[in-house]
Amino acid sequence: MGSITIEGGHRLSGETVVQGAKNSVLPVLAATLLCGGACRIRRCPRLSDVDAAADILRYLGCRADWEDGDLLVDSSVLTRCDIPQTLMRRMRSSVIFLGAILARCGWAELSYPGGCELGPRPIDLHLAALRTLGASIEESGGKLYCQGRHLRGGQIVLAIPSVGATENAILAACGAEGVTVITNAAREPEIADLQDFLCACGAEVRGAGGSVITVEGLKPLHGCVHRVIPDRIVTATYLCAAAACGGDILLRGTDYRHLATVTTALQQAGCRIDCGETDIRLRSEGRLQAVTPVRTAPYPGFPTDCQAVLMAALLRSRGTTVFVENIFESRYRHAAEMQRMGADIRVEGRVAVVCGVERLHAADVFAADLRGGAALVIAALQAEGRSAVHQCRHIQRGYADLAGDLAGLGARVRQNTE
Ligand code: EPZ
Repeated sequence: MGSITIEGGHRLSGETVVQGAKNSVLPVLAATLLCGGACRIRRCPRLSDVDAAADILRYLGCRADWEDGDLLVDSSVLTRCDIPQTLMRRMRSSVIFLGAILARCGWAELSYPGGCELGPRPIDLHLAALRTLGASIEESGGKLYCQGRHLRGGQIVLAIPSVGATENAILAACGAEGVTVITNAAREPEIADLQDFLCACGAEVRGAGGSVITVEGLKPLHGCVHRVIPDRIVTATYLCAAAACGGDILLRGTDYRHLATVTTALQQAGCRIDCGETDIRLRSEGRLQAVTPVRTAPYPGFPTDCQAVLMAALLRSRGTTVFVENIFESRYRHAAEMQRMGADIRVEGRVAVVCGVERLHAADVFAADLRGGAALVIAALQAEGRSAVHQCRHIQRGYADLAGDLAGLGARVRQNTE
């Protein structure tokens, strides 16, 4: 299971390089199935979710090998077009392979992806998008049976700007004859990164980053070399850690434009933030001010993935901060664990009210999901005494080395492998 031991009360200082983005590399790895050639994915983070995606690619017949921090994928030969439950359940977002397999093979068979710690993870929008392109999809016995030998471009209108559904629609549209227009598309930077990868492979995808994306399908594709964008959520995590502990840190290899809502909140909380072209410096006295209500929203709104880590940073702030979680149904599971450290948080449905306290005390706490687990580490960094965060497998899904990176910034943190 693994745990992280944290001795709280130390300021952070120094610099670290931010990893590549998990939520970009996963759809890019699915997209490698389309090009039928060799791709080099640079700055690919070593995460358990990436390992799961690489194992899916290998199961389908691809080669996937690590070389100097890059992942080399060769999808020249596919031997299967199905993903079994054992592999589907290892990664919550494995459904992003559906559109790519359908576009490459003309059929796909996937076990239904499980729910997750954030609440139900429906895929109705994914399936509706693929059906718009002519796919026939049957759901029975916990499996999805998809046929789509002659996909045709069409008008896809997403009821909500779902990140995964946008990605699946783009990938399937690459295998559809004619033009597909996706309206109300997600605008996350990871979608633009997927577009950049696909265009480097010879695809015709335009408009990513906006709400309308156009794909001209059936272009001849080839392999490419692609460098993954920085992970904006990991960047925000480290900024929140330093904001909470006090100190002066420099994060390199970042893109400040991707997390404006987070840096604005931290500045309102009293931090000084200086942004360079590829780095962000944060200085904090450690005792923050509460901020105006934080409402999570689709990009470019405040990211739901940063709700927990900002909450952790504000646990000892002066004043009260209201959070409204508008994206997922159950994304406050970290609150109860923070209360065990002395935090004053009241949760009512989608609203959490955080009243800052003078001090937090160490405790043994349990991660229940990826970002909530990282938030517990930030809470423990402020607590008096030695805490332990258990069930770190959740954290390892999205952070290549959270403990190591924080220790490199002066935190007394150790990853245990019990
Ligand atoms: C992506 O998940 C991210 N994961 C999540 O990051 C992130 O929290 C989320 O986008 C929102 O930004 C990856 O990119 C791998 P959605 P995704 O489809 O695509 C509902 C992390 O911590 N919905 O945009 O699954 C859904 O229930 C993870 O790195 C439907 O109703 O998110 C949710 O309420 C956690 N039907 C909302 O849309 C559908 O068919 C947004 O979900 C699809 C989604």
